[in-house]
Amino acid sequence: MDYPTFFILMSFLLACIHAFSTLFSRRNSRLPPGPYAFPIIGNLLKLGGKPHQSLATLSKCYGPLMSLKLGSLTTIVVSSPHIAKVFFHTHDRLFSSRAIPEAARVVDHHKFSIVWLPAGDQWRRLRRITKEYLFSMQCIDATELLRKEKVRELLEHVDRCCKNGRPVNVGEVAFTTILNIFSNVVFSTDFAGYDSVSSQVFKDNVRALMEVGGKPNVVDYFPILQPLDPQGLTRWVYACGKKLLTIFDEIIDQRTERMSNLSLHDDVLSSKNDVLESLLRLNLKDESEFSRNDMRHFFLDLFMAGTDTISSTLEWAMAELIRNPEKMETARLELVKFTQNRTKNIHEEDISQLPYLQATIKETFRLHPPAPFLIPHQAIQNVDIQGFIVPKNAQILCNVWAMGRDPDIWPNPEVFMPERFLDVEIDFKGQDFELIPFGTGRRICPGLNFAHRMLHIVLGSLIQNYDWRLERNKRPYDLDMGEKFGLTLQRNVPLMAIPIKL
Ligand code: HEM
Repeated sequence: MDYPTFFILMSFLLACIHAFSTLFSRRNSRLPPGPYAFPIIGNLLKLGGKPHQSLATLSKCYGPLMSLKLGSLTTIVVSSPHIAKVFFHTHDRLFSSRAIPEAARVVDHHKFSIVWLPAGDQWRRLRRITKEYLFSMQCIDATELLRKEKVRELLEHVDRCCKNGRPVNVGEVAFTTILNIFSNVVFSTDFAGYDSVSSQVFKDNVRALMEVGGKPNVVDYFPILQPLDPQGLTRWVYACGKKLLTIFDEIIDQRTERMSNLSLHDDVLSSKNDVLESLLRLNLKDESEFSRNDMRHFFLDLFMAGTDTISSTLEWAMAELIRNPEKMETARLELVKFTQNRTKNIHEEDISQLPYLQATIKETFRLHPPAPFLIPHQAIQNVDIQGFIVPKNAQILCNVWAMGRDPDIWPNPEVFMPERFLDVEIDFKGQDFELIPFGTGRRICPGLNFAHRMLHIVLGSLIQNYDWRLERNKRPYDLDMGEKFGLTLQRNVPLMAIPIKL
């Protein structure tokens, strides 16, 4: 036998052995069903550019509890409300850890971040403190005036565009509004402006971090490549993360100095009364309760997790309403009827009395969840689920995007129809497993109530005051609704729309 023939035969033999051993080991290991995994790369080629869509298609074949091998990473994909309930309600504690991507390890973020810490004492302490100082209903109520002011500034900007017949980049202005709401709640200052002359350093770095952090990183599937950083992603994330932390450090230092210079009398008069001041006081009182690192990484979490999620939801909601003018009209009529005249803008206390507006936000979350896989969970031990084993350290992806478009759950799932939520008691607060854009269980998003207020008040204000047309007389139904996968699920093409004052 010549050498090439011998080589081909041996390769064939090895491939067969590997195929049988994978099949055998899958059977033996009692992993949930899934596609055949190739040597080394596993099922990586199945992911494609839009993994939420590819995995939705695969789970139609292998079922709502599916296993994959992504490089060396065992991944379990959950794609039905029933299985989601088993994971995040029945066995919530066992799946409450995080599979940490390489990008989250940069600047040691995973050691201090609420998002990435395992659900232990440190995580519980941070969730408790941040609830007390930011996420509680009392704190949210206390900052209502500030949100009102920022929405007014947004409407002033839209008015200017209206007068000049200029299109509005809806996602961009929503991002600026949400960013400024948070930067004022936390630091009493604006971080961005609507015009091009304002400083955009902070905004640009948050956006860059979201974009780079969302790119699939080969190091996550082959940790052995970590020192090489073959795509250069770690270097990028490091540069942006460092820049943002430096900005926070400067602000913290300035405020610490200011606070130490104030006399007791001034203290009362010139207190900023913002989150930074409260957290600094806590830090001064007890460094072990809330350290400087806890603080700067909490700020990073806040601006990363809070801005793009809300602004992209607003952009999708506006795109759906523009594409469905009769739904836009229904939503506007409800607002106009409620406020009686168009000079009075809606307030946060009105939200509960605007069922169609609420249904519009729910329908937007059903079709366009900002985090289509939630944030990857991790099993802390082997867990038996319906006779299968979910192994310790497996990454858990909950495909809420697939659940939102499942025809067995939603009639006409591809159609934007807020009406479907009018007569049913389904909400997105973690109790109804068919709609969990914020997750559920102990890892549920702590910013849910904040996001709820901002989404309704901004969307309501934009549609109450203006009609919206597409550029170049494009017909509503021609609007490109393509998606771009990243840390959040963005529109492929930004929504540009011309406001017409009503
Ligand atoms: C439309 C708005 C938002 C959506 C759809 C959203 C969604 C999510 C999701 C899916 C998770 C992961 C849940 C899980 O792992 O099961 C999460 C976690 C988190 N979110 Fe949000 N979020 C939003 C807004 C916000 C805001 C405004 C903030 C902060 C002000 C925030 C802060 C966080 C934090 C800190 C976590 C980590 C919680 C933990 O791991 O314990 N989010 N969010």
